[in-house]
Amino acid sequence: MGPQTYGAALLSLQLAACALGSTGSTHATYTIPSTAQLGASSMQTRSSQGPLDGPKLDFVNGTSFDFWYFDVTSYDNKASIVLAFYAASNYALGISPNPPSRNETINMVTIYGSFPNGTLFATQIEAGEAKVRTERDGSSGNWTGEIRMKSRSPAHYLGAPASTRDVSEELQPNIGWANAVPDAHTFVEANIQGSPLVFTGSGYHDKNWGNRPLNTVAKWWIWGHASVGPFSLVFWHIISNEGSVVDNLYLTRDRKVIALGASTLESGPGDSFTLSIDSGDNGRFRFVEEPSVPILNTTGLTRWVGTMKGAE
Ligand SMILES: *[C@@H]1O[C@H](CO)[C@@H](O)[C@H](O)[C@H]1NC(C)=O
Ligand SMILES: *[C@@H]1O[C@H](CO)[C@@H](O)[C@H](O)[C@H]1NC(C)=O
Ligand SMILES: *[C@@H]1O[C@H](CO)[C@@H](O)[C@H](O)[C@H]1NC(C)=O
Ligand SMILES: *[C@@H]1O[C@H](CO)[C@@H](O)[C@H](O)[C@H]1NC(C)=O
Ligand SMILES: *[C@@H]1O[C@H](CO)[C@@H](O)[C@H](O)[C@H]1NC(C)=O
Repeated sequence: MGPQTYGAALLSLQLAACALGSTGSTHATYTIPSTAQLGASSMQTRSSQGPLDGPKLDFVNGTSFDFWYFDVTSYDNKASIVLAFYAASNYALGISPNPPSRNETINMVTIYGSFPNGTLFATQIEAGEAKVRTERDGSSGNWTGEIRMKSRSPAHYLGAPASTRDVSEELQPNIGWANAVPDAHTFVEANIQGSPLVFTGSGYHDKNWGNRPLNTVAKWWIWGHASVGPFSLVFWHIISNEGSVVDNLYLTRDRKVIALGASTLESGPGDSFTLSIDSGDNGRFRFVEEPSVPILNTTGLTRWVGTMKGAE
């Protein structure tokens, strides 16, 4: 498969989301109204119910959310960009304490990151009605930037490869997650408030949704991904509201899955932490996250870009 192009026509919010490895149709257009709808929204909870990277709710109400997340970090860790396309009220995302008004726009794009000189940028764009198109290798519209990804790690759900016909997509009850691009060699060419941002690095893309507010997901969670030599990894450590711990790690090497399942978070979080995995015949691995600087630090959410080292 050739490089996947993800572009953002920021004015019309047309998102060409790739149905990578999906079992569903590859050409579908969905329209998401610009305000929250009334009533109970239902969500996709199993992979057999629709495309891996498509919209996952029948409609978005005031307490549900559906979003497409992308990030890219340059190989020297200096430049980065995070791009997220939301169909969610600020209330559902835990940003506002107030339920949405009848006319609050729920379709938003947030973009933030860092220039190579360390200067941070952040912007949020409200969009009207959103059209979401899922197709293979597709892109359309007026791009203000381009992110070209060549995936080097196969798509997956929390507990199974993307090719699994019928597997749960739930990270926690009523909260879904699907990882279309765990790691990709990525080229970014964007214009950020008049300044060019051009780099190559490690890119990532996932899909997040739920029909309860995002801040009710768990007491605490840490999530991350890394590209370490020939290895690509994605990990979760979640402490649920009930106190149970979900540790999950996805490790691939040159597109081959080495481990998919439990891992151990040995220390941290904080300045540094270690992940260890015993993948049986495939060996034991340790990955150490080194102290790093946040690129975003807001109430309830901190995002770091840093270096991870591994040993086999
Ligand atoms: C949205 O849908 C969910 C799931 O059906 C429901 O629990 C919730 O109460 C709804 N929210 C609103 C604001 O109606
Ligand atoms: C939303 O509606 C309220 C009144 O119900 C009005 O005051 C406000 O200006 C409206 N906001 C937008 C963005 O249209
Ligand atoms: C860093 O780079 C950005 C983008 O080119 C520029 O706008 C900013 O002024 C620079 N900051 C410093 C401190 O040089
Ligand atoms: C881009 O926007 C311009 C002006 O709004 C429009 O004329 C043009 O058709 C758009 N191009 C595409 C490919 O949508
Ligand atoms: C994030 O911000 C909070 C409060 O503003 C501060 O206490 C905390 O140390 C910051 N975290 C990092 C990693 O900078």
